[in-house]
Amino acid sequence: MSQYRPLSAVVLAAGEGTRMRSGTPKVLHPLCGRPMLLHVVDALAELPLERIVIVVGHGAERVTKTLQEQLVTEVPVEFVEQRVQQGTGDAVSVALGVFDDLDAEDDILVLPGDTPLLRAETLAFLATEHRVHDAAATILTARLADPSGYGRVVRDKNDRVSRVVEHVDAAPDERAIDEVNTSIYCIRRNLLAPALRRITPVNAQGEYYLTDALEVLSAAGHRVIGVMTDDPAEALGVNDRAQLAEAEAELRARINRQWMTEGVTMVDPSRTYIDATVELEPEVRLLPGVILEGRTTVGAGAIVGPDCHLVDTHVGERAIVRSTVARDADIGDECEIGPFAYLRPGTRLAARVKIGTYVEVKNSDIGEGTKVPHLSYVGDTEIGENANLGASTITANYDGREKHRTTIGDGVHTGVHTSLVAPVEVGDGAETGAGSVVTRDVPPGQLVKGSPARVARPVREDDD
Ligand code: UD1
Ligand code: CA
Repeated sequence: MSQYRPLSAVVLAAGEGTRMRSGTPKVLHPLCGRPMLLHVVDALAELPLERIVIVVGHGAERVTKTLQEQLVTEVPVEFVEQRVQQGTGDAVSVALGVFDDLDAEDDILVLPGDTPLLRAETLAFLATEHRVHDAAATILTARLADPSGYGRVVRDKNDRVSRVVEHVDAAPDERAIDEVNTSIYCIRRNLLAPALRRITPVNAQGEYYLTDALEVLSAAGHRVIGVMTDDPAEALGVNDRAQLAEAEAELRARINRQWMTEGVTMVDPSRTYIDATVELEPEVRLLPGVILEGRTTVGAGAIVGPDCHLVDTHVGERAIVRSTVARDADIGDECEIGPFAYLRPGTRLAARVKIGTYVEVKNSDIGEGTKVPHLSYVGDTEIGENANLGASTITANYDGREKHRTTIGDGVHTGVHTSLVAPVEVGDGAETGAGSVVTRDVPPGQLVKGSPARVARPVREDDD
């Protein structure tokens, strides 16, 4: 195989996206937990590229910052600002400004930032066709049942592309063409730059059209070709929130199919919502109504659902989590959580912990084998191993001004309706009677009763 020219990419993401009716730049709207533009750059990052240049404009600072924070790629990524959006041709001219080696022989992929379903394979196919046919420019085209709104691809008698005409500029016979420009291209850079200098904004939108530069190339005798995608949905842009929802549904289906291939069971994939950033191990079983977001990870053999919403949460191996909401929580191996548990940030559960029904835990470390089965609040607390909190045990961690910590030792048993008024420490093996209000430290092995007095009193062996 011949030595191919180096390949770079230019992503056009300066547009406003008015139809989203949003204060957030269009390309930052998330699909499956990841901003639209990042899905595009993720696909690019799978290709052997020299560099990726992203043209930003509307919300430039926010777009740049978000990408820099969330981008994972070996390929160098640069941002250029197009201050006034004068059309796709102008946007590409701005991007070409960062390439200093002006006559270098290389190809660039040009694509919009609003095509989150675009796959790396499709871009690779486009680049390969472009090179195999030794074209000056290659357009990825699609045949659409309803092509209205899109630029139409006009071919000459040799089947080459002579021009692309925008819907608003098209004559009736051109509007009848159902092959459309997807706005995804592979172009020889040293031919593109001079062609862009020759285009004018004389059209219905008063914009510099990138497509006009292709017409300049074609008219000058260069080979401009169109290759058609067999999956038009992949190349279609997201312009409004209805298309956003459709694209997200497709992306979700892809993510779910991938996890099922890797050994995850989904009882109803259409009711299983997994962010692109989530990691699952084999033999995980997901029941309907599960939403896994952010950096959530689920260990082998765990069962999650029905109806769980887990954000940035780790679920250990063989754990069972039912009808639970959790954020920034760490659930150990073989834990049993829910139904109706709420695990808030800083919850750290060792192996085999049970957190039962109507239990809320926050910023607490709970030791192996400990059970908090019913109607409890555990906040700012450390609990040892194999303790058992009676139904409706509450840590009173807040005195109206400050939060205080509760420490509960190994093997502690609290009676129903125990209130632990922090700061307080209950020693290993201690027990509290039903309704105790514990305001002082309890030494190890002690039994305290204290209902309904404010102050718990120690109980002697012969007391009843
Ligand atoms: C463009 C194509 C059209 C194609 C359609 C596919 C042109 C002239 N037309 O039309 O043939 O069928 O895409 O969706 O190229 N952008 C900038 N700066 C600008 C203008 C646009 O960065 O000054 C970006 C936008 O953010 C967007 C992309 O370029 O990501 C496409 O621009 P848009 O205005 O949506 O082009 P269309 O009118 O849809
Ligand atoms: Ca568009």
